[in-house]
Amino acid sequence: MAYEYILVEKRDRVGLITLNRPEALNALCAGLIDELGQAVALFEADDEIGCLVVTGSERAFAAGADIKEMIGKDFQQVYREDFITDDWEVLAKTRKPVIAAVAGYALGGGCEVAMMCDFIIAAENAKFGQPEITIGTIPGAGGTQRLTRIVGKSKAMDMCLTGRMMDADEAERCGLVSRVVPVDKLMEEAMAAAAKIAGHSLPVTMIAKESVDRSYETTLSEGLRFERRVFHSTFALDDRREGMTAFAEKRKADWKHR
Ligand code: HXC
Repeated sequence: MAYEYILVEKRDRVGLITLNRPEALNALCAGLIDELGQAVALFEADDEIGCLVVTGSERAFAAGADIKEMIGKDFQQVYREDFITDDWEVLAKTRKPVIAAVAGYALGGGCEVAMMCDFIIAAENAKFGQPEITIGTIPGAGGTQRLTRIVGKSKAMDMCLTGRMMDADEAERCGLVSRVVPVDKLMEEAMAAAAKIAGHSLPVTMIAKESVDRSYETTLSEGLRFERRVFHSTFALDDRREGMTAFAEKRKADWKHR
């Protein structure tokens, strides 16, 4: 499929999506969001893919929603369109794992898209922020909600009310990113992590992801109950028996469902 705003490739059971609108620092225009949704849906349905990576350029993961596209909108329009629509949530709804590989700016909607992914690997030059307050609005795709759950109230308030940027070290310290790597190692590291994930049993990986995600949506006791039930469900899979047998026989597991 030909895309205008993204690049898409498959490598080692990994689906790589590169945001590619360099002249606007990957600002998330409607066309880009639409293409991102199409690419994610195709990878989700593709049996040869076990993990996705979303990245941008060295200068910008994405500098936010497209401000120039938003300028002319009024309340009636954004309310009727339910802007931001579900198209934006496509990454958050994907059942296969998604890694965000972030270099440069991840601001506003860019930071929100990164937070929709399952984890973020950041380059040393990464800068995260929710600067919407500086242009007269507030985050609209999870910036006040996901960021607060991830980094806590104090830092989320600081980011949303001052609009300041956070560098990669601060983002790692507060748990927004899982690891920080040199800029020139970002893709190598992200693709290796994704290939490792994609090398496991796909149904077990999806169950693990669903269980971690559940912790955001429910109480501890309900979450623990859910975890135990889906843990039990792995015992219905050939891959659970194969994994444990391979360990006992000191060999590599030969997964049936990948
Ligand atoms: C549209 C954008 C853009 C954006 C950058 N550009 N960010 N266009 N929407 N969000 C464009 C610039 O207009 C410029 O194009 C080109 O990209 C390069 O940007 P510069 O500003 O010249 O680069 P630089 O001086 O290096 O500054 C980089 C920057 C700055 C600090 C990232 O561009 C910036 O502050 N951008 C806006 C960040 C922001 O406020 N994001 C939140 C958006 S609101 P031209 O053609 O002029 O050269 C949002 C709401 C989400 O995300 C709500 C739910 C989705």
